[in-house]
Amino acid sequence: MTLNPDSAILWSSLGAYLEELAESGVDGFPVGDEICLLSPLARPVIPESAKSATVPSKPAAEVGEGPESLEKIRKTLGDCQRCKLGKTRKNLVFGVGNPQARLVFVGEGPGADEDAKGEPFVGAAGKVLNRLITNMGLKREEVYICNIVKCRPPGNRDPEPDEVATCSPFLRRQLQSINPEVIVALGKPAAQTLLGTNDAISRLRGKFRDFNGIPLMPTYHPSFLLRKQGEGSTDAFWEVWDDMTQVLRLLKLQVPDKNRKS
Ligand code: URA
Repeated sequence: MTLNPDSAILWSSLGAYLEELAESGVDGFPVGDEICLLSPLARPVIPESAKSATVPSKPAAEVGEGPESLEKIRKTLGDCQRCKLGKTRKNLVFGVGNPQARLVFVGEGPGADEDAKGEPFVGAAGKVLNRLITNMGLKREEVYICNIVKCRPPGNRDPEPDEVATCSPFLRRQLQSINPEVIVALGKPAAQTLLGTNDAISRLRGKFRDFNGIPLMPTYHPSFLLRKQGEGSTDAFWEVWDDMTQVLRLLKLQVPDKNRKS
């Protein structure tokens, strides 16, 4: 069977979603009077004798066991080979920072430095992000930092739609686990993926958007700021700073004084 690219993405997302359901203890779901078991797409075939198993009414997180931990999500990923990036990466880059962060930054995907170290934003773009965080009066370890894909796309190409579709359910679980007060989406791929839109980042940035009830501020990616700086322009930096002052205000944190002329 040959799938067109859209169907491939759909199947890939559906597979990852069913796998996620299975891993959170859901055996199946009702279809009319029947229980449709999740096997064989997401888990081993369930024996006939177990077919009376019912679907839990709510995921564990909603019935008093607290949110799924980041450790558990990391463990579920394991030595992930769910998409083709698994074959070429050195290290899976899960995320770093405070599991109870009020603020989460989401980037695009690991580069060479991040791949080597297994930590997001540790290269040139990371230095820019660190400076931004410090300028906000915050510490890197107070926030949480992750990406829409956890493995480096070869040659730093953009992550492909099937890779994003396979990986983003894990990002969603991380965000659900942390449940921050604000998310900052760094650059077009992060903003478009989390908001499910094709709008340009220049149009999306500057206003809070909604991500499952959490205010999300799209802004320019630190690599873009580096490029602009190389061209001698600081306009994008100040646009990002405007976005971050909105974030600080929403978090009811002090906005450090920054003068455009300085
Ligand atoms: N760029 C990203 O989007 N993420 C990283 O982790 C590093 C660079």
